[in-house]
Amino acid sequence: MSRRFLFVLGSAREAGNTELLAREAAAQLPGDTEQRWIRLADHPLPDFADLRHDSDHVRPSPDTPAGLLLDATLAATDIVIASPLYWYSVSSLTKRYLDYWSAWLRTPGVDFRDTMAGRTLWGVAALADDEPSVADPYAGTLNNSAAYLRMRFGGVLLGNGSAPGDVRKDTGALARAKTFFAQDAPLARFPYETVGAAPR
Ligand SMILES: Cc1cc2nc3c(=O)[nH]c(=O)nc-3n(C[C@H](O)[C@H](O)[C@H](O)COP(=O)(O)O)c2cc1C
Repeated sequence: MSRRFLFVLGSAREAGNTELLAREAAAQLPGDTEQRWIRLADHPLPDFADLRHDSDHVRPSPDTPAGLLLDATLAATDIVIASPLYWYSVSSLTKRYLDYWSAWLRTPGVDFRDTMAGRTLWGVAALADDEPSVADPYAGTLNNSAAYLRMRFGGVLLGNGSAPGDVRKDTGALARAKTFFAQDAPLARFPYETVGAAPR
């Protein structure tokens, strides 16, 4: 099956470091891989309302931001969260998109959980800090979200930068971008499933 990558751009500015790094990585994808790029700021989702336990769940119309993002998400074999590191996690635009996944899990006729199972989640992030471990909460958010939905997780490609274009100076990140999407993406596991999981 040929793969269809959805790049979900979560920066609050255009042409930033995260997108630049994601495009470096995407340039290495095989020619028959579909790529769709969506800038969340161009499709503003309304404040998320938690209606999970109310009875009325309707599929959002495709001409709304939620409908467009739902359809794009369902169509993708690979979802790339390309969000900068904001306060050590994903940006609020990105977080809101992920919150909508909770609504889609209850949307009739969508079967979001089973559709997402086995698909692959990836992360790409720029951060100003020189120490990559400060992005552990970001990686944890994506890993655990993938584990919850029984998705694969390909990890997070990190690049350093503050002003737009800075990431071009991070030669290590540019080198990692070359092979990022070629990496194995195992089924995601919650940390408690892997730590100390040796048989007794
Ligand atoms: C609201 C906000 C929060 C940020 N929080 C962090 C942070 O927690 N750690 C960090 O290293 N950089 C942080 N930064 C810096 C950005 O990650 C950095 O400028 C990055 O290059 C922005 O990505 P972009 O160019 O794709 O927009 C923050 C920037 C903003 C605007």
